[in-house]
Amino acid sequence: MASTVERTNSATIELLNSSFHQKFCDLDKDVPVACAKDSDIIKEKCKSAVKRISISSSIFLIAHEDDENDIILPGNCTSRGNISHHGSVKSVGDIIGSGAFSEVREYYCPIEDFDIENYVQDDNEKDSTSTSKPSSKLSTGHSRRSSLASQLSSTGENSYAMKTLKYDLSRSTKISGLVDLTIEAHFLARLSHPNIVNLLSTGGEPGSPSFFIVIERVSCTLAEVIKKCRFQRRRMKSIGVNKYGEKMDKIQTKIELRYEFNNRINISRQIAAAVRYLHSHSILHRDLKPQNMGEDENGTIKLFDFGTCKELKEDLSKKGNNKYYGTKRIGTMRYMSPEVATSTLYGLPADVYSFALVAWFVLHLEEPYAGFTSDDLLKVHEKRLRPRIKKNMPKDIRQVLFKSGWNNDPEKRPTMEEMYSTLDGVLQSSSS
Ligand SMILES: Nc1ncnc2c1ncn2[C@@H]1O[C@H](COP(=O)(O)OP(=O)(O)O)[C@@H](O)[C@H]1O
Ligand SMILES: [Mg+2]
Repeated sequence: MASTVERTNSATIELLNSSFHQKFCDLDKDVPVACAKDSDIIKEKCKSAVKRISISSSIFLIAHEDDENDIILPGNCTSRGNISHHGSVKSVGDIIGSGAFSEVREYYCPIEDFDIENYVQDDNEKDSTSTSKPSSKLSTGHSRRSSLASQLSSTGENSYAMKTLKYDLSRSTKISGLVDLTIEAHFLARLSHPNIVNLLSTGGEPGSPSFFIVIERVSCTLAEVIKKCRFQRRRMKSIGVNKYGEKMDKIQTKIELRYEFNNRINISRQIAAAVRYLHSHSILHRDLKPQNMGEDENGTIKLFDFGTCKELKEDLSKKGNNKYYGTKRIGTMRYMSPEVATSTLYGLPADVYSFALVAWFVLHLEEPYAGFTSDDLLKVHEKRLRPRIKKNMPKDIRQVLFKSGWNNDPEKRPTMEEMYSTLDGVLQSSSS
C-alpha cells in the first residue's frame, strides 16, 4: 500500500474522474446482448444476494430514496454532509490496495466540502428518530461522530478510501464482485463502531458497475503494522535501540519490550472489540485476516472488507454460541475454521477461530503456518495442526485465546465477549 500520496491539481482531478467514469461506461457497454436487461439482471442478483445474507435489503431502499442525487449516505444522513456527488467527485487518486474483485483508491475531499456540524447533527437525529428502519438499528451516533471528528482535526482535510469494482473482470467475476460490494455497502451503512471503518458515502446504483463506496482510510494494513513491530523489536533486542534510534540500557530495554508487547495486546483487543460488536448483532464477518484490518493515522485499528458478511438467522433449536448458522465455504484458507473449510453448519464460533489465528499472528509476529503451500493449508484441519504458542505467553491468553479459541469443536470455543475480556484483563493487570 502506498504510504504517501502526491496531491493532484484540479485539472488532473478532472482527468482522473473522467477516465474513472469512462472505464465504467465502457464496462456497461461491455455487456453483450440487451445491455439494459443484462444490467437489470445483475442488479436483481445483487438484491437477492443481500436478501439472502441479511434480514433486510436496506441498501436498495436507501438508494431509491436518494435517487435524485444518485448518491446514498450512511444510515439516515442527508446529503447536507455533502462529501461527494456522483460526477463531481473531488479527487480520486492512486490505487492504495486491491483484492480479487476490487480496487481501493485514495479519495480526497477538501475540508470546506465537509460540514461536520451538519453531519454530527444528522447523526444525533438518527439516534433520536430511530425508527423501525434497519439502518438505525446498529448505529451509535457517538462513535461515528468521534471517529469522524478525530479524522478531520488531525489532517485538516479529508483523505478517504474509495472502493470500486476492478474494470477488467470477466462477466461472472464481475457479478461476484458487484454482489460483494453491494453486501459490503449494505452492512457498512448499518454499522457504527470505533474499530470498524465508517462508510462515508456511496455513488452509483448498488449492483451497477459504476457503484462505489467511500470509507474511512487506514494508513497501513495489520500485516504491515506487524512487520514494523517485528523490525522494531529485533532492533531493541539486538542493539538496545528504541524506535527513535536512542540507545537504551538493559532495564529500559526490558520496559520498552514489555510496552511493545502490551501495545500488541491492545491491537488484539481492538480487533476483538470490532468482532464482538458484529457478533452482538449476529453478524458473521467470515474473512477475518490481517489483510482486512488496518491502522489509521491516529493508531486506531479498523476492520474493513465486509463483502463476505452474513447476518445469521437464529436457529432456536440450538443453544448458546452456535445457534446461528451458515453453510457456504467462504474466506481465506489460512484463517478458516474447520467447520467452514468442510462446509458443515457454522455460526459465530467460525469468526472466533479466525480471530484466534489473527491474535496469534499479532502476538507472535509471525504468520500462522508460514511456508505452507496451499495444499499444506488444506491439510491443516485433517491433521489438526495448530501454531506453536510461545512459552512466555500470559496464561490466560494461552488458554482462552489460543487453546480454546481454535478448539476443533466450535461449541468449546469462547465467545468474542470472553476473548475481549481476557485481553482486557491481561492489559489491566500488567498496567497495575
Ligand atoms: N479503508 C481503506 N484504507 C486504505 N486501504 C484500504 C482500505 N480498504 C482496503 N484497503 C486496501 O485494499 C485492499 C483490498 O481491499 P478489501 O476491502 O480487502 O477488498 P477485497 O474485498 O477485494 O479483498 C486491502 O487489503 C487494503 O490493502
Ligand atoms: Mg480483503
